[in-house]
Amino acid sequence: MEERRLGPVVGLGTWKTFDRDAKLARTVVGSALESGCRVIDSSPMYGAAEASLAAALEGRRESAMVATKIWARTVAEGREQFRRQLNWFEKVEIEQIHNLLAWEDHAAWLEEERAAGRIDRLGVTHYSDEALDELAAALKTRRFDTVQVPLNPRERECERELLPLAAELGVAVIVMRPLGQGALLRRSPPPEVIAALGVETWAQALLKWALSDGRVDLVIPATRNFERARENAAAGSPPWFDEEQRSLVERWA
Ligand SMILES: NC(=O)c1ccc[n+]([C@@H]2O[C@H](COP(=O)([O-])OP(=O)(O)OC[C@H]3O[C@@H](n4cnc5c(N)ncnc54)[C@H](OP(=O)(O)O)[C@@H]3O)[C@@H](O)[C@H]2O)c1
Repeated sequence: MEERRLGPVVGLGTWKTFDRDAKLARTVVGSALESGCRVIDSSPMYGAAEASLAAALEGRRESAMVATKIWARTVAEGREQFRRQLNWFEKVEIEQIHNLLAWEDHAAWLEEERAAGRIDRLGVTHYSDEALDELAAALKTRRFDTVQVPLNPRERECERELLPLAAELGVAVIVMRPLGQGALLRRSPPPEVIAALGVETWAQALLKWALSDGRVDLVIPATRNFERARENAAAGSPPWFDEEQRSLVERWA
C-alpha cells in the first residue's frame, strides 16, 4: 500500500461498527492490519469503540497507529478521556479535538502531552461544512498537525479552501465518510465502468477517487465486515485516477 505522511493511505474508522463487540473488532481490525492498514480512528463519542479497539489490539499494538479524539466541554473531562486512552493504548499517535469542541481550551494541555511524547500528532475534526471556516481558523494558528473532514464525490466543500490551506501549511488530511456513510454504495455502476477504472469494486473506486487527490493523506472507511476491510485496503495502491477517471466516478456517484 502507498504511504503518505500518516503511513499507509487506507485506515479504518470505528463509528457505529464495533461499540461493545470486542470480538468483532478483533476480527475486522486484524483483517485491516493484515491487509496493510495502520491507522484506526475512534472517539469517546463512539460508545465503547475505544475499549473494543484496545481489546482488538492486544498483542499487536505496535502494528497500529491509534487516531482517537477528545470530545469534552471541559478540560477536566478531556483529561479524564485522555487518561483512559493512555490506559488502553499507552500512547496516542494522532489525538484530535472532536468537532472542535472547546478546541482552544484543549489545545494548550494537549500540546504539553505532545511535547511529553504521549501524543505524536495533534489534530482537529468536524463533520459539517458549516464548521469549515472555524477549522481553517484553527489550522492558521499552526498548532495542529492533522485535520479530518468529509470528502467524497457528493461532499466536496473542503476542496474550495480547506484542502489548499492544509497543503500550504503542511497539515496532513484525514478523510472521514469516504463512502458517504454507505449511501454511495446503494447502487453500483455496471461492470464495464468498474473495469475502466481498473478496480474490482465500486467501494474501491470511491476510495481511490479521494486518494487520487494528492492533498489527501488517509481515508478511514468503516466496516463491520472483515472481507470488506481487506477489499478497502486494496484501494490504497497506485495507479491513481486521472481527471477523466475521477469525472467518471463523479458521474456515477
Ligand atoms: N460520519 C461522521 O460524521 C464522522 C464524523 C467523524 C469521524 N468519522 C470517522 O470517519 C469514519 C468513516 O466514516 P463513516 O463510518 O461515517 O462512513 P463511511 O466509512 O463512508 O461508510 C461506512 C459504511 O460503508 C459500508 N462499507 C464499508 N466498506 C464497504 C464495502 N467495501 N462495500 C460495501 N459497503 C461498505 C459499511 O457497512 P458495513 O459495516 O456493512 O460494511 C458502513 O455502513 C468513521 O467510522 C469515523 O471513524 C465519521
